[in-house]
Amino acid sequence: MALADFIEQLDKLAASATAAFDAAGETAALEEARVEFLGAKKGQFKAVQKKMGSVEPGERPQAGKRLNEVKMQIEQAFVAAQERLGSQGTGGQKGGQKGPAKQFDATLPGSCLRWGHLHPITQTIEELKGIMGRLGFSVADGPEIEDERHNFEALNIPLEHPARDPLDNFYLPVVGAGGGALLLRSQTSTVQIRVMENTPPPIRIISLGRVYRPDTPDPTHYPMFHQMEGLLIDNRVTMADLKSVLRMFATSYLGSDVHIRFRPSFFPFTEPSVEADFSWNDQWIEFGGAGMVDPNVLQEVGYDPEQVTGFAFGLGIERLCMRRHNITDIRYLYKNDVRFLHQF
Ligand code: FA5
Repeated sequence: MALADFIEQLDKLAASATAAFDAAGETAALEEARVEFLGAKKGQFKAVQKKMGSVEPGERPQAGKRLNEVKMQIEQAFVAAQERLGSQGTGGQKGGQKGPAKQFDATLPGSCLRWGHLHPITQTIEELKGIMGRLGFSVADGPEIEDERHNFEALNIPLEHPARDPLDNFYLPVVGAGGGALLLRSQTSTVQIRVMENTPPPIRIISLGRVYRPDTPDPTHYPMFHQMEGLLIDNRVTMADLKSVLRMFATSYLGSDVHIRFRPSFFPFTEPSVEADFSWNDQWIEFGGAGMVDPNVLQEVGYDPEQVTGFAFGLGIERLCMRRHNITDIRYLYKNDVRFLHQF
C-alpha cells in the first residue's frame, strides 16, 4: 500500500471518529461509537492499523508516526466527549486502556497504608541505648574499617596472636594512610581505644555497631553481626561493679527471671576475664565477654594503671534480640523476609 493512501485512510478515520464522538448525545451512543472506532477487536482504527504491514518497509516509520498521532487525536476526542457527558463510568475503555473506568464511591472504606518499621536489630539497639543511658553510659561511635592498632595492637593482641590470622578476619586489599593494613573491625573493643586516646578518665561509654568475622552462618553465628561495647574507667572500679552492671542490664532487657552466669575466660585486653551466659530453653547461651581492663591497655592509651581501673564488656546484640523475641535462628534476621520482620 502506498504511504499516501494509508495516510488518507487515517485522516478520514480521524475525521469520522471525532465527528461521531462529538455527535453522541448520551452515554450509550458514545459507547457505541467507541466500540465502532476504538474497539479492541473490530474497531475501525484496528482495521487501518493492520494495513500498516502492507506499506513499503522504507515508508513504515512515517506511517507509524502518523498512526500514533491519529490514535491520540481519536482518543482525545473520546475523552472530551466523555467529559462533556459526565460519563466516566460508561464501562468504556478510556484512552484505549483495558478495564472499565470506575465511578468514585465515597462510601467505600479507604485502603489502609502499610507502615514500614525499624528492623528488630535497630529496635534492639535503641532499647539497649535507653537502658544503658539510664545507668549513666553515653554513646560513642567508631569506624567499621579499622587499622591494626585499634583492632589489635592497643588491645594487647600482638602480631603473632591467632586472632590476627588473615583467615579469621576480613582484611581489605588497600592500605591505610600510614601504609598499614586495614580490615573490617572484628569487635567493637576498637572503640574503647579510640575513646581513651582522646578522653581523660573518668569514662562511662557504650558503643553499638556492626562487626565482621568470616564465621560460617549457623543458628547463633553470622559473618556480620552487632556488638554493644561498654567501658567504665574510674578510681577503684572493681569486678563487683562489672557484674552488677551486667546483671542489671540483663534483667532490665530480658526480665527479672533471667538467669546469668559468669565463666572464667581469657581476652588479651582484660584481666581477669569472663564470659557471660544467660539461660534459654534449658541451655546456657553466651551473650558476651567482659573483664577488668588490662593495665597494658591503660598504659597504651596514656593512663596510669596505678591511678585508674576499669571494666569493659562486649555483648552480641543479635543474641540478646533473639533471646528476647524467642528467635531460634540468627539467619532469619537477615533474610529480609517481611513476613518475618513484620512481627516485631
Ligand atoms: C569479643 O568480641 C570481645 N571483644 C568482647 C569483650 C569486650 C571482652 C570487652 C572483654 C572486654 P567474643 O568474640 O566472645 O568477644 O564476642 C562477643 C559476643 O559476640 C559473643 O558472646 C556473641 O554473643 C557475639 N558473637 C560472636 N561471634 C558472633 C557471630 N559470628 N555471630 C553472632 N554473634 C556473635
